Amino acid sequence: RDRQPIIAIDGPAGAGKSTVARQVAAKLGLVYLDTGAMYRAITWLILQEGIALDDECAIAELANRCVIELAPSQDLQSPVQVSINGRDVTQAIRSLEVTSQVSTVAAQTAVRQALVKQQQNWGKKGGLVAEGRDIGTHVFPDAEVKIFLTASVQERARRRLKDFKKQGQSTVSVEQLEKDIAERDRKDSTRKVSPLKKAPDAIEVNTDGLSVNEVTEKIVGYYQQRLSRD
Ligand code: CDP
Ligand code: CDP
Repeated sequence: RDRQPIIAIDGPAGAGKSTVARQVAAKLGLVYLDTGAMYRAITWLILQEGIALDDECAIAELANRCVIELAPSQDLQSPVQVSINGRDVTQAIRSLEVTSQVSTVAAQTAVRQALVKQQQNWGKKGGLVAEGRDIGTHVFPDAEVKIFLTASVQERARRRLKDFKKQGQSTVSVEQLEKDIAERDRKDSTRKVSPLKKAPDAIEVNTDGLSVNEVTEKIVGYYQQRLSRD
């Protein structure tokens, strides 16, 4: 092979992809790639510029000219720094407004084409843990290890609520989060272009009742097994 290995992690919202992918990357000395942050950044810019979410032409044009930068910090607790066209949007892309619109934006072909191209460019040399919805099926179909992370909607909503409370936000209810998550799952799995689905050769890991460390160890184990096979 002329590139370093790639680990692809896909799954629905709140399954633990970001948290686990970062930890796996840190353990194995690989680069972490958060593709969801890219869809969020574009969504933020569309809202910022007042472009209508169904104006596919304007959105395509914006997707093709925007410059997204991601800078994961070494400290696993601090968020990945995200900028679009030079604006730091690290905090802004996590807002409820962006979260509720991102799946609509991510369903558009032009947006996906532009972002996938960028992701594949970054991944040319390999050596990364990439996380999203279509990594194993579409972005890196030849990834050495493919993981499909799941958990029940209730468990995922509880995790999100805990995250919000940690940030001092307590206005949102667990019922609302369950509804939002279920709606995003529905949109992500039923869209025409690269819907969220398990790749045939992905290993499904149900994380209900597992800690972040336990899930991380499982994935590191699959990776080591795979390398020793090669
Ligand atoms: O962290 P969370 O699961 O809430 O979402 P995310 O990974 O930040 O992704 C936000 C949204 O971007 C998802 O709900 C998808 O609509 C979209 N997305 C996608 O379509 N393809 C990817 N590879 C990553 C994210
Ligand atoms: O990226 P994704 O939306 O799949 O999930 P996340 O943003 O990593 O959020 C998952 C939250 O659940 C984080 O607060 C984790 O600490 C927590 N968690 C987890 O990720 N995995 C577990 N097995 C248990 C808890």
